[in-house]
Amino acid sequence: MEGRKIKIPMPSALSSRSDRNPIRIAVLASGRGSNFQAIIDSIKAGACSADIVVLIANKPDAKAIGRARENNIPVEIVERKSFPSREALDERIKELLDKYGVELAVLAGYMLLLKGKKLLDSYRNRIINIHPALLPSFPGVDAQKQAFDYGARISGITIHFVDENLDAGPIIYQEAVDISGCRTAEEAAHKILEAEHRAYPKVVDSFAKGKYVLEGRRVKYVRG
Ligand code: GAR
Repeated sequence: MEGRKIKIPMPSALSSRSDRNPIRIAVLASGRGSNFQAIIDSIKAGACSADIVVLIANKPDAKAIGRARENNIPVEIVERKSFPSREALDERIKELLDKYGVELAVLAGYMLLLKGKKLLDSYRNRIINIHPALLPSFPGVDAQKQAFDYGARISGITIHFVDENLDAGPIIYQEAVDISGCRTAEEAAHKILEAEHRAYPKVVDSFAKGKYVLEGRRVKYVRG
């Protein structure tokens, strides 16, 4: 079961979009930023055709900010307390995505639900999130602990489009992770995080090499 993939196309060969410029992405983060780092590393290794044009962080002490600075990635901080409402905060995020010419916004441990209608409407199916469980199981915070405490033997990761609801948008990619041998929730989280780091850069890269088409909730990948 280890690493078993629920099959969706995951392009590894070059296709027509790869002849064009790398996809311009923004990463949104609230904390540690290890998924952000995995994307940076994959870009540097030539395995992910993306330019991270901005890091947007909602916490001024987010560790992700240091990772951005080390890699000369512009940082924009959008603290909740600087805005009269969550909608106003999200409107600022939309302005930033517009300003930096972002093609894909990548949520990597961004722990605020996006609520702004303008942002969600303007960037519909251009905002993705990674969640450390097989959705729709265990949405919300501490998904790894939720799964461990529940006694789930298999959990995993989900990469999905972001919509108005929590961890609920159409699913782009899922991968199962066997946590049956894990003795603690932390061990399970570590194993799941390794899968996240492998998968997220590949999914970002897939956006550079093709496009995703929605049929209802079902997501299909079209190369080139
Ligand atoms: C990751 O495990 C990510 O899946 C999770 O937060 C962590 C961020 O770690 N996101 C969610 O739970 C979203 N619902 P990172 O900051 O080291 O990438």
